[in-house]
Amino acid sequence: MKPWRLWPQRLVSQVTLVLMLAVALEFIGSSILFENSRLYPNRDNQVRRAAEQLVTAEMILEAAPAHERAAQAAVISNRATELSWSALPSLVDPERLAERDLKTRFRDAEPSLRGRDLRLQAETDRALPRDTHLKAALRLRDGSWLTLKTKIRAAPWAVLLSSVGSAFILGLGVIAAAALVLRNLSRPLRALAEAADKVGKGAHVRIAESGARDLKLLAEAFNAMQDRIASLLRARTEALAAVGHDLRTPLARLRLRAGFVKDTDAREALEADVDEMTAMLDSLLAYLGGQEDPEPRRRTDLAAIAMTVVDDAADAERSATYAGLDHLPVQARPVSLKRAISNVVENALHYGGAAALSLTREGDTAVVAVEDNGPGIPEADLAEVLLPFHRLDSARARNTAGLGLGLTIVQQILRREGGVLVLKNRPEGGLRVELRLPAL
Ligand SMILES: Nc1ncnc2c1ncn2[C@@H]1O[C@H](COP(=O)(O)OP(=O)(O)O)[C@@H](O)[C@H]1O
Ligand SMILES: [Mg+2]
Repeated sequence: MKPWRLWPQRLVSQVTLVLMLAVALEFIGSSILFENSRLYPNRDNQVRRAAEQLVTAEMILEAAPAHERAAQAAVISNRATELSWSALPSLVDPERLAERDLKTRFRDAEPSLRGRDLRLQAETDRALPRDTHLKAALRLRDGSWLTLKTKIRAAPWAVLLSSVGSAFILGLGVIAAAALVLRNLSRPLRALAEAADKVGKGAHVRIAESGARDLKLLAEAFNAMQDRIASLLRARTEALAAVGHDLRTPLARLRLRAGFVKDTDAREALEADVDEMTAMLDSLLAYLGGQEDPEPRRRTDLAAIAMTVVDDAADAERSATYAGLDHLPVQARPVSLKRAISNVVENALHYGGAAALSLTREGDTAVVAVEDNGPGIPEADLAEVLLPFHRLDSARARNTAGLGLGLTIVQQILRREGGVLVLKNRPEGGLRVELRLPAL
C-alpha cells in the first residue's frame, strides 16, 4: 500500500482534510495550553477554601476550652493562612460592595455561615493590585471571635498573557501551515492560469498533468485543446499555402497569354492585374512560410542590401534615394532582410510617392530608416497597421495592391533577427519607418 493511499484525490477533499487537520491541531494545542493555565488556582477556589478553613477552625476552637483557643488557633495556622482568637472583635466590616460580594460567596460555599455574625475586610495589595488581603472574623457561640487572615492571589499577568499569547501564536502557526499546504495544492491551478495567459498570446505551452485528480483532468483537457487548435491551424495554413502556391502556375500562364491580346490598353491592364495578383500571392506565401524559413543566418552587409533595394526602385523609374554608411555588417538572413526593406520602401513609394533611405549606427544598433512625404498614419492606428490583413480604410478606398501583410511580414522578419520595427509620423509630415537590428 502506498503511503499516499489515504490522501484524497479531489481538490475539495484535500482542502477539507487540510482544514480538518488544522482545526484538530489548534484544538489539541489549545487544550494543552488550557490545562497548563489551570495549574494556577483561580480566585473562586481560593475564596471557597478560605471559607472552609474558617469553618474547620471554628469547629476546632469550639471544642477547645477558652484558655487554649489562642494557642490552638496558632497551631492550625499555616504559611498562607493565619488564624487567631480574641475575646473582642478584631475588625470592623466596611460593608463595601467587595465585602458584601465576598460574604455571599463565603455563605454559598459554607451554608453553615448563614445567619452567623461574619465580618469581612478586603484590601487590595498596593504593590500588586491584583492581589487581595482578606480578613474574616466569625463570632463564636460564647461571643469571642475567630479571625482568619489570608491573601487571595490572582494568576500573574505574565501567566495570563503567555497563555493567551501562546494560543495566538499557535493559531497563527496552524493558519500559516494550512495556508502553505493550500498554496501547494493550488500550484497546478496557478500554472494553468499562467499557461492560459501565454496561450492567449499565441504561445504553445504544455502544462504538467499532475496534482489533485480534478486539476489533472483540467490540465489534460487544456493540453489536448491546445494540440487540437495547433493541428487545426497547421492544417488551415498548409491548405492556404498550397492553394497560394498552386495559383501561381495558372497566373504565370495567364501572364504569358496576355501577350497575345491585340488591344494594347486591354493587354497592359490585364498584365497589371496579373502582376498585382502575383504580388499578393507572394506576400501571402511569405507571411505563411515566414515561420519555417529555411534560409540560414549569416554575416550580411546591411548597406549593400539597402542600396540594392534603392537601385531596384530606381530601375523601375521610381524615386528612391540612399544616404548613410557604406558598410554595416549584421548577422541575418539576407533574402528576408531585403524583402523587409523593400516592403517598407514599397509603402513609402506607394503612399508618399518617394522614399528616402538612410543607414546609421546607434551604439550597438543598426538603423535603416525609410522616410516619405505622404499622409502618414493616424497615431491611433500606428500599432494596428502591424496586424496581419489590417489596412486603413483610406488605403482600401484607393484600391491599392496588397493584402495588409507588408508590415506584418517586416515585423516577423525583424523579430527573427532580434530586431524591432518602429513607426513614427514625421513632424514635417509623412511617415518614418525604422528597422532596428543588432549590429555586429
Ligand atoms: N508610408 C506609409 N504612409 C501612409 N500609410 C502607410 C504607409 N505604410 C503603410 N501604411 C498604412 O499601413 C497599412 C498596412 O501596410 P502594409 O502592412 O504594408 O499593408 P498594405 O501595403 O498591403 O496595405 C496600409 O494599408 C496603409 O494604410
Ligand atoms: Mg505594403
